Amino acid sequence: MDDERRSGAPDDPIASVLETFREAVEAGVSSRGEFERLKGRFLGREKGLVPALFSGVKDIPPAERGGFGARANAVKREIVEAIGRLSDDVARREAMSRERAAAVDVTLPGRRPRTGALHPLTIVRRRVEEIFLRMGYSIADGPEIENDFHNFEALNFPPEHPARDTQDTFFLQMPPEAEAGRREANPESDLEDRAPRSPLLLRTHTSPVQIREMRQRGAPLRMIMPGRVYRKDEVDATHSPVFHQVEALVVDKGISLADLKGTVETFLSELFGAGTKARFIPTFFPFVEPGADVHMTCIFCRGAGCRKCKGSGWIEIMGAGCVHPNVLVRAGIDPETYTGFAFGGGIDRIALLLYGFPDLRLLFEGDERFLGQYAGRLLGDPA
Ligand code: PHE
Repeated sequence: MDDERRSGAPDDPIASVLETFREAVEAGVSSRGEFERLKGRFLGREKGLVPALFSGVKDIPPAERGGFGARANAVKREIVEAIGRLSDDVARREAMSRERAAAVDVTLPGRRPRTGALHPLTIVRRRVEEIFLRMGYSIADGPEIENDFHNFEALNFPPEHPARDTQDTFFLQMPPEAEAGRREANPESDLEDRAPRSPLLLRTHTSPVQIREMRQRGAPLRMIMPGRVYRKDEVDATHSPVFHQVEALVVDKGISLADLKGTVETFLSELFGAGTKARFIPTFFPFVEPGADVHMTCIFCRGAGCRKCKGSGWIEIMGAGCVHPNVLVRAGIDPETYTGFAFGGGIDRIALLLYGFPDLRLLFEGDERFLGQYAGRLLGDPA
């Protein structure tokens, strides 16, 4: 407070307290806490400015005490009343802000419910399944934790085949007790009993489901086997240790390579568009004879040659072949009566092609902002 404003009553403590009080009220209080501090500053029993006026009475000449007391009481009354009004103000403001917080603003725009979307891999898998269901195939499933018998041995992999190498296959380590129990359950070593004693692994392809289904159902047979498979691969744009395959198996009387080629072309045309052709490049898979790498018409240039197909007009899409007689025998089917074909490839790879995604990791990282855009659609479908 400056001297000029006090100059009207330089030595009048009563006037000075009143002026200080008015200034404080004018500055205002913004919270209950600030109000309490102001109240304490003027009326506080110990250090309050108003009680201090009364304890100063003893220093005043007796003749002036009466007048001083009357004025001090009047000022005290004024301050007490003003503080009462201030308290009401603070309470009213508190009630208003509570009300505002609880109020519903009906003019706010509503929040849309967020709907889930199918993962592109699920969309592609279902498309593939629909195509085969229309052709009269059934869908079969098998365990992801397999054993060497179904994954390799019954599929005619020689014991030293490199795919059995721990480089590619995740073998499972069993606790010794479990291992012993598993072996004792089937002490015989003929074909029927080999499976339960065979080392466990994460299946490296969906082909072991062929063995399970043939052994369980016998021939004739017409089915597809979609599912998750595992290989010891480093993650990059085209590799993942977990990926998805789908394969088809047909076993019947008189099934030939011509049936295989016709079926493959029908399937690829349904999935990638009419006119998609297939060519077979001979290769080796232990479980088929003959075996082939299937190439299809490049879906980007329709065969003209482009950067994606390295100018060849063809894209490698899956493996195929006629079921090896050894596999039929191990599955308990007579190869003199029945023949069959099988083909299979990666669902992830098909998805990359159909969606035009540049990188496999987009499918596995689960980023909703990316995946949510596809909500049931394949690229090229109407939005
Ligand atoms: N199982 C093979 C693989 O994973 C693909 C294949 C399936 C090949 C059926 C021929 C027949 O590479």
